[in-house]
Amino acid sequence: MPEQSLDRLIDLIRPQIRNEQPYRVSGDRDVANKLNQNECPFDLPEGLKKELAEMICEIPFNRYPTEHPHQLTEALAELHGIEPECIVVGNGSNELTQTLGLCFITEQSRIVTPRPMFALYESVVRMHGGKIIPVSPRPDLHFDVDGILESIRREMPTLTILASPNNPTGLAMSFEAIEDICSEASGFVLVDEAYQDFNKNPSAISLMSKHPNVLVMRTLSKGIGLAGLRLGYLLGRPEVIREMMKARMPFMVDRISETVALAILSRPDLIRARLDGIMKGIRDLESEMQSIDGISIIPSATNFLLFRSQMDADELASRLADRQVLVRNMRGYPELQGFLRVTTGTEAENKAFIEALKFALERAH
Ligand SMILES: Cc1ncc(COP(=O)(O)O)c(C=O)c1O
Repeated sequence: MPEQSLDRLIDLIRPQIRNEQPYRVSGDRDVANKLNQNECPFDLPEGLKKELAEMICEIPFNRYPTEHPHQLTEALAELHGIEPECIVVGNGSNELTQTLGLCFITEQSRIVTPRPMFALYESVVRMHGGKIIPVSPRPDLHFDVDGILESIRREMPTLTILASPNNPTGLAMSFEAIEDICSEASGFVLVDEAYQDFNKNPSAISLMSKHPNVLVMRTLSKGIGLAGLRLGYLLGRPEVIREMMKARMPFMVDRISETVALAILSRPDLIRARLDGIMKGIRDLESEMQSIDGISIIPSATNFLLFRSQMDADELASRLADRQVLVRNMRGYPELQGFLRVTTGTEAENKAFIEALKFALERAH
């Protein structure tokens, strides 16, 4: 019998994986006011859910879905006015970050990322052995575009990853700055547009025709409000997407998700009404927060606000949790010490948050 000590077996797992931490969202999911994951606060209307339930009953559960969801790809292509060959759909955009890693990142790769950056990207780069070239933000947390351009010139990265609007700051990069970066980079530039539905600046999708290095990541989790289904997609030139299709796992989009997504995408009025509700929510939330003494807020192009007060962030988060409000503590980001992030919720959730915030801060005086 060969030696099978568990320690030795664990050592067989690649060190790049062993050195990572599993992705975890802290806090009690069952809290009354869950404002910590940048979700859409509205579920689908009851009547529509019943209709969808009937459609789902028609699905043969014993049969595989198509290797790639063709109908959904066509609906997304129509939505963006591009060819279906420009799209790869995944099980949430998170899943496609692994495909991206598999396609672009080796131990020789340098990846430029402005900080602070949605944590999953850096984790995927590390797991594939790539070298992260971080670019610090300006003191006001805005992107340091000159610093990004300089890093691109110096490092000649395989990939530059931008999230605009950015999570966790909520700030958007100007369209012109994104174009400058795409022009300067000899490697690929990924623009994660998870929050684009809330952004006033135009999407980077239009840059794809001029710059073959542009990739755009989108999700149905935020503006479209289907985080529970897990659907995301990546857009790029057909020649690039054709190669990436070889690295994506087949059958990642199940029949239920595709059916529901198609039904929602065919209702632009419903999508618009929900987006308008979120946009109103974030404006109202921001003005309520601005009227509270001692709160400073980072301007947002998303459905969430990054803010801080004079109170220690752990203390404030725990006082909010005592009053059934869950927000995200940003202590994991060195640049964001002292900050909390709150997602706009329903009117009632936002009211509960504002009341809890006032109560927590008043008790501090
Ligand atoms: C910048 C960014 N990209 C991607 C995602 C995840 O999207 P998905 O739900 O499609 O995996 C998030 C979720 O918070 C995000 O903030």
